[in-house]
Amino acid sequence: LHVAVLMGGWSAEREVSLTSGAGVADALESLGHRVTRIDMDRDVALRLHAAKPDVVFNALHGTPGEDGTVQGLLDIMGLKYTHSGLATSVIAIDKQLTKNELVPHGIRMPEGVIVSSESLYAGDPLPRPYVLKPVNEGSSVGVAIVMAEGNYGNPIAPGSEGPWRHFDHLLAEPFIKGRELTVAVLGDEALAVTELRPRNGFYDYDAKYTDGLTEHVCPADIPADIAEAAMDMALRAHKLLGCKGTSRSDFRWDDERGEAGLYLLEVNTQPGMTPLSLVPEQARHIGMSYADLVQRIVEEAL
Ligand code: DAL
Ligand code: MG
Repeated sequence: LHVAVLMGGWSAEREVSLTSGAGVADALESLGHRVTRIDMDRDVALRLHAAKPDVVFNALHGTPGEDGTVQGLLDIMGLKYTHSGLATSVIAIDKQLTKNELVPHGIRMPEGVIVSSESLYAGDPLPRPYVLKPVNEGSSVGVAIVMAEGNYGNPIAPGSEGPWRHFDHLLAEPFIKGRELTVAVLGDEALAVTELRPRNGFYDYDAKYTDGLTEHVCPADIPADIAEAAMDMALRAHKLLGCKGTSRSDFRWDDERGEAGLYLLEVNTQPGMTPLSLVPEQARHIGMSYADLVQRIVEEAL
């Protein structure tokens, strides 16, 4: 096959995407496919038109590769592509729209509020501790955890210049104490549960992409009923949103509250494919190599 790998772009996760894309492109070449690597710019349509690939491997993260924009372009061009389509991407990139979609179906997610960035200077939108996050970023970009005393991430103080200043509005959610879990879905199967144990306590951008800063426990050392519940929620969320190929659902679990303490935070429709990423790790856990995973994702798109 001739596969165009879309990577890079101009989102806050550009570097992550370049790493994902390089891994994917190398794997495709090792499988004998012809690969065109495309660092996405404003001329991407021209590049794709010239390349005429059989299929596009979307290795983009964030905006505009994960939010439906690129998916719409590829639809118009009549190109097949990996991962989710336009409508699913528009909803899943937005953590609030995702809740609107999933909570009525009984998927437990933290009850958050949308707040304007300006209003944060007037006071807390929720009782502390709570989490502030942009609705549509990935890799913990722009996330702050506001604790009773001292904040993790960016302090909220009048005049301070935290990253949230770049966003008109933010999602505020109660901070769920306990543990960080994630579940990959591939095709119509939830693969495993991984627990992330970041050494500094918070699974932020550095903890995600610096080797040695986070211990990954796969399969997670948690009770079987919690693992089953997380895998069931991830699979249901994948299906309810209409995800294609692969997705990864992230959770917090308050381990003092049993299954009632398990909350889905979000569904990632363009999960990372870097050497430290979680979907490849869970694939390995079920006996699937990185190259096999890439091949399978391509096949799901054909
Ligand atoms: N947003 C990053 C790439 C992830 O979900 O893996
Ligand atoms: Mg995410």
